[in-house]
Amino acid sequence: MAANTLLITGASGYLGGHLVNAALDKGYNVRATARNESSAKKITDQFPQYATQLSYAIVPDITNVESYEPHLQDVVGILHSASPFVLKPEDNVKDLLEPAIQGSIAVLEAAQKWGPSVRRVVITSSHASVCDLSKGKRPGYVYDEKDWNPVTFEEAAVADGVVAYCASKALAEKATWDWVAKNKPNFDLVTITPPWIFGPYVTELTSTKHLSESLQLLYDIIGAAEIPPFDFGGFADAREVAAAHILGYEVPEAGGQRFWVGQNFNYQSAVDAAREQIPELQSKLPIGQPGVIEDTYKVDGSKATRVLGLKYRPLAETIKDTYAQLLRADAVGAK
Ligand SMILES: NC(=O)c1ccc[n+]([C@@H]2O[C@H](COP(=O)([O-])OP(=O)(O)OC[C@H]3O[C@@H](n4cnc5c(N)ncnc54)[C@H](OP(=O)(O)O)[C@@H]3O)[C@@H](O)[C@H]2O)c1
Repeated sequence: MAANTLLITGASGYLGGHLVNAALDKGYNVRATARNESSAKKITDQFPQYATQLSYAIVPDITNVESYEPHLQDVVGILHSASPFVLKPEDNVKDLLEPAIQGSIAVLEAAQKWGPSVRRVVITSSHASVCDLSKGKRPGYVYDEKDWNPVTFEEAAVADGVVAYCASKALAEKATWDWVAKNKPNFDLVTITPPWIFGPYVTELTSTKHLSESLQLLYDIIGAAEIPPFDFGGFADAREVAAAHILGYEVPEAGGQRFWVGQNFNYQSAVDAAREQIPELQSKLPIGQPGVIEDTYKVDGSKATRVLGLKYRPLAETIKDTYAQLLRADAVGAK
C-alpha cells in the first residue's frame, strides 16, 4: 500500500459509503473496516472501479483496541464513523452508549499504539452532540460549534431511545476531546457534527427495507397523513458530510477543531420541495401548509465553509435526489 492510506470505520453504512467514495475519488487508498467478511464484501463490491485502491480490515469489535492492531500500518488518517445509529434500542448502555463511547476511544488508543504514521483522526459526531434536547424548538437560538448537549451518562442510561442516541454521540465526542487533551498523541483530532443526513446512498439501492434512520424518516412521509412534527432543525447532504470529513483531514488549520456541517431544516420545506420536483410524489405526500415555516432554532454551518471551503447544496436538490433514489429502489424491490 502506498503511504496515503485512510482507515475508514463504519464503511458499510449510509454515510460510510460516501466517505469511502469521496476518499477513493480523491486518490487515497482506503482500508475499510467491517465487522465480518460478508459486510466487507458488500463494501468492496460497491467500488469495482477502485479495486486497486480499496482494501478491507475485519474489526469484529470496535470497542476492543486490539482489533485494530494489524490494520494501522501505513495509515496516515482515520475517519471514524462506526457508531450505532438506532433510535429504539433494547438496552441504552449496551446498544448505544458503550459502543459509541468505547468505540471512539479504542480508535484513538489504537492509533497511538500501532499507528505511527497517523497524523489526524476525524470523528463523525452529530448535531445530537450539540443540541440541548431539553430546550425544544428554542426559537431565536442559533446552534453551532460552541454548543454541547449537556445530557449525562446516568440520564441517558434510563432515557428514551432518541435521548440515549443523542447522548451516545455527545458523550463519545466529549470523551475523545478529553482523551486527546490528556494523552497528547502525535496526531490531532477533528470532529464533524452533522444534523439529519439526507441525500442518496452512494450506490443504487435494490430495496428500501434497511434504510439508515434518517432516510427512513423521509421514506415514512410517503403515504403518511401528516407532515412529521419538528425534531432536528438541521440537515446536511451525505455528499457534503463526506467532503467535510476529507477536508477535515486535509486542511491543516482544521486540526483540533469541531465543525458543525449543514443548514436549517424543517419537514414542511422538504415536502414542498419533493412535491414540486417529483410529480409522482404529489399525491403521495401530505400537503401540510405549503410555505409556512414554524419558528424554531436555527443552525450555523458557516465555519465549515470558511475554514474547510465546504460548499452546500440547496435543500431541494438533496430532497429530489433522495426521493428519486428511494422511488427507483421501490420500483425494483418491494416497499
Ligand atoms: N444519518 C444521519 O442522519 C446521521 C446524522 C449525524 C451523525 N450520524 C452519524 O454518522 C455515522 C453513520 O451513520 P449512518 O447514517 O451511516 O448509519 P448506518 O447506515 O446505520 O451506518 C452505521 C455504521 O456503523 C457501524 N456500526 C454500528 N454499530 C456498530 C457496532 N456496535 N460495532 C461496529 N460497527 C457498528 C455499522 O456497521 P454494520 O453495517 O456492521 O452494522 C455501519 O457501518 C454514525 O456515527 C452516526 O451517528 C448520522
